[in-house]
Amino acid sequence: DKGNHRHFMLKEIYEQPVVVAQTLRSYIRPLEEQVALPDMDFDLSSIERVVIIACGTASYVGMIGKYWIEQFARLPVEVDVASEYRYRDPVLLPNTLGVVVSQSGETADTLAALRHMKEAGVTTAGIINVPTSSMAREVDLLMPTHAGPEIGVASTKAFTCQLAVMAALAVNLARVKGKLDEVQEREIVHHLVEVPAAINEALAYDDAIADMADTIADARDVLYLGRGTDFPLALEGALKLKEISYIHAEGYASGEMKHGPIALIDDNVPLIVIAPSGPLFDKTVSNMQEAQARGAKVVLISDADGLAQAGEDAVATIEMPKVHPLIAPIVYAVPVQLLAYHVAVAKGTDVDQPRNLAKSVTVE
Ligand code: F6R
Repeated sequence: DKGNHRHFMLKEIYEQPVVVAQTLRSYIRPLEEQVALPDMDFDLSSIERVVIIACGTASYVGMIGKYWIEQFARLPVEVDVASEYRYRDPVLLPNTLGVVVSQSGETADTLAALRHMKEAGVTTAGIINVPTSSMAREVDLLMPTHAGPEIGVASTKAFTCQLAVMAALAVNLARVKGKLDEVQEREIVHHLVEVPAAINEALAYDDAIADMADTIADARDVLYLGRGTDFPLALEGALKLKEISYIHAEGYASGEMKHGPIALIDDNVPLIVIAPSGPLFDKTVSNMQEAQARGAKVVLISDADGLAQAGEDAVATIEMPKVHPLIAPIVYAVPVQLLAYHVAVAKGTDVDQPRNLAKSVTVE
């Protein structure tokens, strides 16, 4: 049932404040203001490295997880797409935690990669939405997302719930590795608890995003830029746009622009820049300005401070609430999803059932 919404995708985008809160609730002890994972029968503090495997949108959760786990737990993290991981000859060292991320829990390549890790004797964990799925049954530690059934083929609420669980995993690893004291953890928990409200604020820009969709709907190519945890979000924005609107889109790390993609820039190529204000902002803005100098039409997604500083020459801006850098990728996922959605609606494509795509990819 789509409720009042025109598509399942839009309904699921709007469910995010509730389902992300639901997911966070099962990973946060409110009284202690601590993060908590489900019980496990292995010693998390013995983990010395993490390998994260997934496909598509879920693999971008893995990339963001890499930034978080490295930053907080100071553990080395490797991320790969399952279809590459399983066919190369990966080096699996002792004391590795192998993490799979999957909405369906049935994606054939991710399941095969999980079995490969298990056979190699690696302890495994899964961030999974379907609790009865093969992956949910086979991982040593199941970390469920509580997104509820996701009907739209393009993943939205599963993505933000997966990020919430990934953040909890990063914080928990940091604690058991002695990299986070009580005060620091409490502070992070406060930021996580703010996520649902911040997503609500982000949703308030729905109409404004719908109004700018026409400027992108006619484009043949669109580029997305981001730095740090906003780089995987740029990849996610491009994937979402191409799968539901059929517009060719690519996401790049901001600093990579000048190493090739800037050759594509002219006034027909909209550039979506995802850049919350903060330590990485100025660098991304200078990449953006290089593109603007070559005629790029920029849509800047930032907070009030960022837009005040760099929004002047953008053809459109999307204002996000000012949030802590840790939670920014969860909140900024919302405008990225809405932009893809409204461009697809403007183009009249089948948003919930895009051509050639299946919700669960059980073939290799
Ligand atoms: C994109 C999308 C896909 C899935 C991918 C993995 O919107 O939904 O890229 O993320 O097929 O699927 P799961 O998470 O079920 O393993």
